[in-house]
Amino acid sequence: MFETLQAAPADAILGLITEHKNDPRPDKVDLGVGVFRTAEGETPVLDVVKLAEQRLVDTQESKAYIGTAGDPNFNAAMEKLIFGDSGDTDRIATIQAPGGSGSLRVAAGLLLRARPDARMWVSDPTWANHIPLLGGAGLTLESHPYYDTREHVIRIDEMLGALANADEGDIVLLHACCHNPSGLDPSEEEWTAIADLIVERKLLPFIDMAYQGFATSLKDDAFIVRHLADRVPEMVVSSSCSKNFGLYRDRVGTLSLLAADKASRDVVYSQLNNIVRTIYSVPPDHGAVVVSMILNDPELKVAWRVELAEMRSRLREMRVLLNDALVEKAPNHDFSHLVRAKGMFCFLGISEDQVNRLKRDYGVYMVGSSRINTAGITARNVNYLADAIAATL
Ligand code: LMR
Repeated sequence: MFETLQAAPADAILGLITEHKNDPRPDKVDLGVGVFRTAEGETPVLDVVKLAEQRLVDTQESKAYIGTAGDPNFNAAMEKLIFGDSGDTDRIATIQAPGGSGSLRVAAGLLLRARPDARMWVSDPTWANHIPLLGGAGLTLESHPYYDTREHVIRIDEMLGALANADEGDIVLLHACCHNPSGLDPSEEEWTAIADLIVERKLLPFIDMAYQGFATSLKDDAFIVRHLADRVPEMVVSSSCSKNFGLYRDRVGTLSLLAADKASRDVVYSQLNNIVRTIYSVPPDHGAVVVSMILNDPELKVAWRVELAEMRSRLREMRVLLNDALVEKAPNHDFSHLVRAKGMFCFLGISEDQVNRLKRDYGVYMVGSSRINTAGITARNVNYLADAIAATL
């Protein structure tokens, strides 16, 4: 059987973890996979997560199955975090999912059941795994312009122009905030123009929110979700707790569907549960209970918001730090877009060949597109990094 198979290529993002780990050079710098790092280069468990986990260990009485939709307390708390007071709660169904990726996969299953020939529009560029994950599930993907690689701005007019060609019922995948990989999000005015077009052309918004709280605030980062929830009959929202709760390996997320009315919501909910049963049966519980404990306890919630704000500030500071170092070391090049970006990622804006030379000559690791995870920058490595970039340019 298996002799018919050929080795699959290493994943463009996750493959960098092993490459970096196996590099013996002491000065190596990891700007690859999107995990938060402290000034010491570590990805610790959040203090508030440790606290909640301890409470969980002390009080949990059973690990019996909880059901295909996961933990109802978690789902309710997440729905509130995502939608705030927007949308009609009677029309929203939320289920727990194994991370953002698991949520996307279940959503793809639902969309294919509802409308096998639907097309999904994704930004060019988008998260490297969106296309294999959603396309691999069977959806037909189209891309629309998003990022201007020369000027480092959003190509909003071209994006709107491309979406004006979408057919009624086509799906538009939007990154709620911290666009991965560019770090550039539409302004509220641009979001409103995108929403106007979605309403006018009767498109289905599908919002991927993997970084709520990493750009500006929990509320502002959910702007487009809440804006659309009050304007459209139907919508899909995938969310992830990997980054904002630091629960990467625990696989925690949700899938929310806004349906046209309560009866339709109930049908959608039954379909979602049915799909989950045929893929992974029930979602993993541990991380979701931890999130539920934090969101449902006022003191823990405040502690979490403080840690989240610290992570957000560090990401911003590191982008400024690298830009300042590059102003000094590579004065003929403009990297000011680093400071305009939000969240974890932005493009350095160098060629794939330069990316490869940075890896080969300096042990500096980033995705081939020159996407960098700014959490990998520290006060200690920034000069080495800027020198390496300047020399490579
Ligand atoms: C990333 O984009 O680096 C993260 O979302 C991790 C992943 O799964 O790709």
